[in-house]
Amino acid sequence: MPRQMRAVVYERYGPPSGLRLERIPVPTPKPTQVLVEVAATSVNLSDWEGLRGSPAYARFGGLRRPVRRVLGSDIAGRVAAIGDAVTTFRVGDEVYGDNLLLMGGFAEFAVAPESVLALKPAGLSFAEASTIPQAGAIAAQGTAGAAPGVRMLINGAGGGTGTFAIQLAKRAGAHVTGVDNAGKLDYVRSLGADDVIDYRTTDYTRTGPYDLVLDLVAYRSVFAYRRVLNPGGQYWMVGGSARALLRVLTAGTLLGRLSDRRIALLVVRSGPAAFMPVAEGCVAGEIDSHIDRVFSLDEVPAALSHVGEGRALGKVVVEP
Ligand SMILES: NC(=O)c1ccc[n+]([C@@H]2O[C@H](COP(=O)([O-])OP(=O)(O)OC[C@H]3O[C@@H](n4cnc5c(N)ncnc54)[C@H](OP(=O)(O)O)[C@@H]3O)[C@@H](O)[C@H]2O)c1
Repeated sequence: MPRQMRAVVYERYGPPSGLRLERIPVPTPKPTQVLVEVAATSVNLSDWEGLRGSPAYARFGGLRRPVRRVLGSDIAGRVAAIGDAVTTFRVGDEVYGDNLLLMGGFAEFAVAPESVLALKPAGLSFAEASTIPQAGAIAAQGTAGAAPGVRMLINGAGGGTGTFAIQLAKRAGAHVTGVDNAGKLDYVRSLGADDVIDYRTTDYTRTGPYDLVLDLVAYRSVFAYRRVLNPGGQYWMVGGSARALLRVLTAGTLLGRLSDRRIALLVVRSGPAAFMPVAEGCVAGEIDSHIDRVFSLDEVPAALSHVGEGRALGKVVVEP
């Protein structure tokens, strides 16, 4: 009888009520994989999208039903076992990383390729470390063009990625405008945003113009994105509707080229090299990984709703 663990599983795309806490076998690492005893897993909007199977691109792992039964990609914990070919880690090492392909973090144990993991800095708790890999990598890449004199706008600024992005853009010297709902704007200011916009009352594409736009929740037409950019400016879509994604990839590319602007999808490079600089900023006390709430494993449905229904300020963490 294989060793058992507690895990939150789902069989169909749908609401959080479809999640169940079950006992299932502890996974066995393949040669290049590591078995992690999970201490903390942060919730990303991508978990919510994977649960709902919406937007359509969230079904890339299974069109009709999910292939991965356990969600949770941003894991932090201790190495419990390693595959035969693993060279970077030993049993007992404290690690963290974005396990986006295999998921499995809403459980007591998860397997991950060694390539997605890094040693956890001693200066960060497991919960803090779990907030960084996905959101930190997106924020670092999405703010690469921030610099003194650059006017940057971040749409969806009060969430997990926005929290890091505002701080990174301010650290780089940019002027930052943060867009989110009214209830999150004090928080967005507290992270350093110079200006804030409530998306429920103001269409940000009729403000500006800006040199750099990082859009975490894109729903608008490419003409709106063109309008909000200065000549030479860049608009980066990170998440949003499948429709917006199609428009950005097709008409957006063309419109951008014709009008001396760039309208494009930010294809985020994941992996330790992408998120470790953000972790170093957190250890140095220059960046705050704001944890809104910590939930237990049996509260995963509530944790996912808290993020998916837009109540979280910054990051939400599950501790098995
Ligand atoms: N491109 C890639 O390679 C890649 C890789 C990984 C992940 N992703 C995507 O990256 C995104 C990351 O999001 P996250 O984890 O930072 O999400 P998050 O923590 O949920 O933050 C999103 C924020 O946007 C706000 N919001 C919702 N609707 C909005 C609207 N119409 N206008 C402005 N703000 C709005 C939300 O607040 P309220 O809902 O309360 O208003 C929330 O504060 C996800 O969409 C994920 O799928 C992309």
